Amino acid sequence: MSEPAYKLKIRNLRKTYGPVIALAGANVDMREGEFLTLLGPSGSGKTTLLMAVAGLLQPDGGEVWIDGRLATYMPPNKRDIGMVFQNYALFPHLTVAENIAFPLRMRKVDEATIKKEVTRVLDVVRLPQVAERLPRQLSGGQQQRIALARCIVYKPSIILMDEPLGALDKKLRDQMQLEIKHLAVQLGITVLYVTHDQEEALVMSDRICLMNEGEIEQLGTPDELYFRPTSVFAADFLGESNLIKATVSAADGSAVTLKAPGGATVKAAPARFEVRNGQQITFMVRPENVHILGSGEKADNEVTVKLDDVVLVGQVTKAYSKLGGESKLSSTQLTRVGTRMPKAGEEVRFGWSVDSTVLVADKRPGAAA
Ligand SMILES: Nc1ncnc2c1ncn2[C@@H]1O[C@H](COP(=O)(O)OP(=O)(O)O)[C@@H](O)[C@H]1O
Ligand SMILES: [Mg+2]
Repeated sequence: MSEPAYKLKIRNLRKTYGPVIALAGANVDMREGEFLTLLGPSGSGKTTLLMAVAGLLQPDGGEVWIDGRLATYMPPNKRDIGMVFQNYALFPHLTVAENIAFPLRMRKVDEATIKKEVTRVLDVVRLPQVAERLPRQLSGGQQQRIALARCIVYKPSIILMDEPLGALDKKLRDQMQLEIKHLAVQLGITVLYVTHDQEEALVMSDRICLMNEGEIEQLGTPDELYFRPTSVFAADFLGESNLIKATVSAADGSAVTLKAPGGATVKAAPARFEVRNGQQITFMVRPENVHILGSGEKADNEVTVKLDDVVLVGQVTKAYSKLGGESKLSSTQLTRVGTRMPKAGEEVRFGWSVDSTVLVADKRPGAAA
């Protein structure tokens, strides 16, 4: 057995549709019990990757390994995989109990065990009272929990979920995100999850695999992707970001010095790729890390700007300006009673730390030019 420590191993997986490269050679490893999310805009190849793992789509090349076994061309029913989709796909004419019993009946489990298991998983998804109802007598959120119950009842090796919360309203979605995550931890199940919603990915995942036009843009923990994006695309896709073009004026081991628009000197954390003096580069700083400095307050990086707009957006207040009259730079601060916010037209000093100044590649590091 090769590397049995991995539940799922994907090697150089490729799929094209005519001229469209849906998947351009993906490599992903998943540990047992890991919650990994494929995140990316519509059309980035998430579903294609998931379907190839499920065996519902033939890749053009590459390998899928499940539990140390080569599964690339195995039929879906031999892969020990469970799936939950956006449209719950419950059998409408069967009761909840019969829906959950279905995969067990297919596996010729005896009636006494089926009865026990159905009761058990209905408890797990906290819906013990709905066993005799039909799917249409349940709310959207309840139906999705039953779909999940039907999946966990036969203890598949990996559970695949493709935008399972896409049809639910925002409040229920927030609640279900935590519920599914807790369930996954509690049951120790391995989940490969798909969403286009960055917040959902940040909330639920152990690791996020960010996809862009069929390629893996960045793969890492939510913290890594949020605080240390490697590319403009990653910085832009997760959270809000100021992205400013600058020129490298000096680079040593501890920091990179940049000349920013308007002539300001900005120090950035060391890049995770090579930088040269004189190079044009983009740096990223999150608005919540840009502070409006009071008199006498200091920061690693300081610029004086004129505010174009100051808007109160409920719990945060956003102050917008431009560096050198062109590059957008905004600051987001918690709205507090009694603190005076400057107004549009005022000059203020913006300040932020070296550590929050991240150099990002315009293209994915390693991607072909
Ligand atoms: N059956 C198909 N025929 C032709 N093109 C397809 C097919 N399925 C997917 N594609 C294309 O492959 C790319 C990736 O699609 P998909 O994996 O569904 O993306 P996502 O799930 O991230 O939205 C898109 O450009 C899509 O249009
Ligand atoms: Mg999709």
